[in-house]
Amino acid sequence: MITFILNDKTILTDSHPGTTLLDFIRYGENMPGTKIGCREGDCGACTVLEGTLENNKVLYKSIVSCLTPLGNAQGKHIVTIEGVNMKELSPVQNAMVENAGTQCGFCTPGFVMSLTGHGLSEEQSTHEKAIAAISGNICRCTGYKSIEKAAASISELLKLKDISDPINWMVENKFLPEYFLKIGDQLKQIQSNTSTSENNQIIGGGTDLMVQKPEEIEETDINLFYNRNDLKGIRKENDSIIIGSATSASEIMNSEIIQEYFQNIKEHFKLISSEPIRNMGTIAGNFVNASPIGDLSIFFLALNANIIIKESNNSREIPLKNFFLDYKKIDLNKGEYIETVIIPISKSEFKFNFEKVSKRTHLDIASVNSAISFKLIDDTIEECSVSAGGVSAIPKYLLKTSEYLIGKKISNGTVIKASKILQEEISPITDVRGSSDYKRLLLRQLFFAHFIKLCSKSISLNELLS
Ligand SMILES: Cc1cc2nc3c(=O)[nH]c(=O)nc-3n(C[C@H](O)[C@H](O)[C@H](O)COP(=O)(O)OP(=O)(O)OC[C@H]3O[C@@H](n4cnc5c(N)ncnc54)[C@H](O)[C@@H]3O)c2cc1C
Ligand code: FES
Ligand code: FES
Repeated sequence: MITFILNDKTILTDSHPGTTLLDFIRYGENMPGTKIGCREGDCGACTVLEGTLENNKVLYKSIVSCLTPLGNAQGKHIVTIEGVNMKELSPVQNAMVENAGTQCGFCTPGFVMSLTGHGLSEEQSTHEKAIAAISGNICRCTGYKSIEKAAASISELLKLKDISDPINWMVENKFLPEYFLKIGDQLKQIQSNTSTSENNQIIGGGTDLMVQKPEEIEETDINLFYNRNDLKGIRKENDSIIIGSATSASEIMNSEIIQEYFQNIKEHFKLISSEPIRNMGTIAGNFVNASPIGDLSIFFLALNANIIIKESNNSREIPLKNFFLDYKKIDLNKGEYIETVIIPISKSEFKFNFEKVSKRTHLDIASVNSAISFKLIDDTIEECSVSAGGVSAIPKYLLKTSEYLIGKKISNGTVIKASKILQEEISPITDVRGSSDYKRLLLRQLFFAHFIKLCSKSISLNELLS
């Protein structure tokens, strides 16, 4: 049985755990407020909130219900547009009306849920963050200016929010119905249920699988990793950071440990999908889908990450760069799963950069992406790793380029020579994201961008391009 709270009602269901939460809400519970648009995580019409009990607090985030396997709702509070309706419009709903942010209304429940989720976060609201909260919502008719104005006016109201207890503040200020105050106690009564069977189809956040083969998942025996606390979380151990394989992209970008070593992590991760997809998609899901342009794969390849692969009581540790064998072929046997990701860390003289070019800046997959890490000691490069996506059948660790750079003094000449070696290591193909020549040129520019950003005193753009 799957047990969770849907708005103010406790649900106990024996529906298949691979059914989409969206279908369960609309057809199982007859609540049509959550809309069906693309069913691919792109439009946000199906956005709902997911509340999780953590350290006696309920923490809410936006998710897309079209890609959420019902089993991932176990032990959660799921909130749909019906669950925030009250006698009067909430300030979020009111701002959409007052600013003419709605026309046909199809997208409106999704926008309202994303902006309500923004209000529930334990962060001070800013205009920028309110806009980021709706990064996964698309409107076909209103035009975004009026919706942006609504977001700005909501953000002004939320500036008064008590960030130590947003739920209470949101209820007191009529953003939410009163039943929200009792959800924490109700969730304590629901056990988390993570019984698993090793040979079943693993699902993390579902943001890849539920797009690729939703019908199959509805009929397959599945192994849900999304709520497995033993596979979640980020910790420091000696000279490494250990990341659980079911940790989401949002959890990585908001982690204090990660932020300590990667000051630009939020800027980098904002280029990856949208807020709800980052809230769902896991690090291992990104590695195992093995897309040649997977952003997390490229990011962690340049960090020289290792992964621990488990099967029953056995485990093996391999470098991530050896995990990708050929197009969509990985070093993972039946019954095995990724348990953790390990990155070596060092604060002293450590430099890291990630670059991504896509047709749209946000909510788009890369045409080409690249990352680099190295230490710079007395102007000499040490421990260098470079990676690139979209230029090979796999997310590519650029071994020869990395090896060439190690021990070299940083200079325009070094970077130009390395960029020529890099061109010999890649084999981009012409496809919808650009011609082979275009991708070669893009990667060269991204490679230069790494050094211009990280070593601006020693590197001159004019010299590199002359
Ligand atoms: C709208 C949209 C936008 C996106 N944008 C981007 C983007 O900008 N950049 C990007 O890189 N990706 C993007 N993605 C792809 C996807 O979100 C990510 O790859 C995500 O990290 C997948 O993680 P998941 O947990 O949701 O995977 P799932 O769909 O749950 O699983 C994917 C695969 O991984 C396997 N798996 C999951 N966990 C484990 C484990 N621990 N051990 C072994 N196997 C495991 C599953 O069996 C499955 O084969 C986007 C997806 C959508 C829908
Ligand atoms: S229906 Fe479009 S994101 Fe879910
Ligand atoms: S109001 Fe029609 S899609 Fe947004």
